[in-house]
Amino acid sequence: MKNSVKYQKRYFLPDGENTDWLKADAPSHAPVWCSVDLRDGNQALVEPMGVEAKKEFFRMLTELGFKEIEIGFPAANETEFEFVRALIRENLIPDDVNIQVLTPAREPLICRTFEAIKGAKNVTVHLYSCVSHEQCKQVYGGGMSQAKELAVRGATCIKELAEKADCGNIRFEYSMESFTTADPKFSLEVCNAVLEVWQPTKEKKAIIDLAATVETCLPHVFASLVEYIRKNLAYREGVILSVHPHNDRGSAVAASEMALLAGAERIEGTLFGNGERTGNVDLVTLALNMYSHGVDPKLNLENLPYAASVYSCLTGMKIPPRQPYAGELVFAAFSGTHQDAIAKGMRHREEQLAAGEEPVWSVPYLPVDPRDLGREYERDVIRINSQSGKSGVGYVLERAYALTLPSMLKRDFSVAVKRASEKKSRELKPEELYALFVKTYVENDAFVSIKDTEYRRLDGIEATVTLEDKQTGGVCAVKGRGNGRIDAVCNALGTYLKRDYTVNGYEQHMLTEGSSSKAISYLSIRADGRSYWGVGIHDDATTASVRALCAAVNNMLCFSEE
Ligand code: KIV
Ligand code: ZN
Repeated sequence: MKNSVKYQKRYFLPDGENTDWLKADAPSHAPVWCSVDLRDGNQALVEPMGVEAKKEFFRMLTELGFKEIEIGFPAANETEFEFVRALIRENLIPDDVNIQVLTPAREPLICRTFEAIKGAKNVTVHLYSCVSHEQCKQVYGGGMSQAKELAVRGATCIKELAEKADCGNIRFEYSMESFTTADPKFSLEVCNAVLEVWQPTKEKKAIIDLAATVETCLPHVFASLVEYIRKNLAYREGVILSVHPHNDRGSAVAASEMALLAGAERIEGTLFGNGERTGNVDLVTLALNMYSHGVDPKLNLENLPYAASVYSCLTGMKIPPRQPYAGELVFAAFSGTHQDAIAKGMRHREEQLAAGEEPVWSVPYLPVDPRDLGREYERDVIRINSQSGKSGVGYVLERAYALTLPSMLKRDFSVAVKRASEKKSRELKPEELYALFVKTYVENDAFVSIKDTEYRRLDGIEATVTLEDKQTGGVCAVKGRGNGRIDAVCNALGTYLKRDYTVNGYEQHMLTEGSSSKAISYLSIRADGRSYWGVGIHDDATTASVRALCAAVNNMLCFSEE
């Protein structure tokens, strides 16, 4: 592309002193999570949420376990102001939740912000100003000394208002807007000047927040910047080091993870990565990445589909089907080989658990157990379409309907499934799969159906089979002998139909449904070099097998007709 030269610029390069973060393989504990859904997220919506929708969203965030929630920019407009008032007035903020409000470093707006938070028990007043040289010059028309002065004035104003405010605990936060495109030495100078005003202590900490307002650099550069600030910050003991990554390069999650390794203690972001442009960092992905490493993220994400649907409903934003963890298709395996590996991996795990082991999760193709996030194996993992194989088909019938098909029947049925899915040009849901199974193997009586059977012990067994010929409508009784009941019925049918076949496959198991249990028989017959399967279900095991035999015979006759 011919214009690439116009983007050439230099980034802060990690030197040996700012690469400690390289030594850890993963964050070892959850950071403090701060949701900015109701501010950064809300201001990025085509139709921002109203007060009632924001209340509902706020409630969900508290249910998910967020203890720090930025609820708005109250000086920006009436809805934001009224929402803050409503939460406080209606006592909707749990005692262990800290609300946060954003304000620019301008006195009238800071004053309005303090009006909004009157009566709040635990509140963070979040001051921000820009530290990027280019942005200050182009947007605010000022130099760097003015930028620093603005931040210090804002910090002073907040401190003075907080001393007289009618609130419980007030914490201060300072965000350096466009931190990643600023000179880190200048950023450090500004945040140390702000800290000088606030004089935070171990007991009364302030938050310093490093904002990747636009994500411009690679994650390792961001991590090194975080490390640089961490190592050189004044009042270190009194500071909670926070990051606020956006996702313009698509690497906000990686940048945040590296920032945590570099010493960030707190992360501001949103559910599913909502927010300005490409969004803020997705806290769900971050938290679940941690979870997949065996670290408790300290958020309640066990019912992710619920959170996803509330989120979509309130914001009007859709979650893409490939969104990590939350997307509809992220655990789905359609292809036969993946389904086979997953089914085997699941079985292996069940065997380990049954043997009393506590195995680390290692099922192929699944980074976490979908059930831990409120997903179902049958609906979300092994999904059936024309790409699927016998393992997947067998797995769904076993999980959803407790049918343990013989391996050869799985193979036989997977051909029918492929055909049906191709014809419909879509996937088949578990109930459709079951219906196709019943239609194909259980209910086929197109040529002949058995009305009754009687058995007599002679030299072996003699069966008298009353059958209905579906072609003629006639009912008749035919006899057959064999060394068992099924063999005798098989011979009686063979004689009537003048067909030569033998039983070459048979399995049976019990199906438990509530308190009653039924037997299910899978039976195949061989004729003209091919096998035909039938399945029978009945309270009585022999009747189930006779039904399976009859269905197999009908399948053979249907095939001959084709
Ligand atoms: O992205 C950003 O810089 C912000 C600040 C206001 C913190 O949202
Ligand atoms: Zn932001």
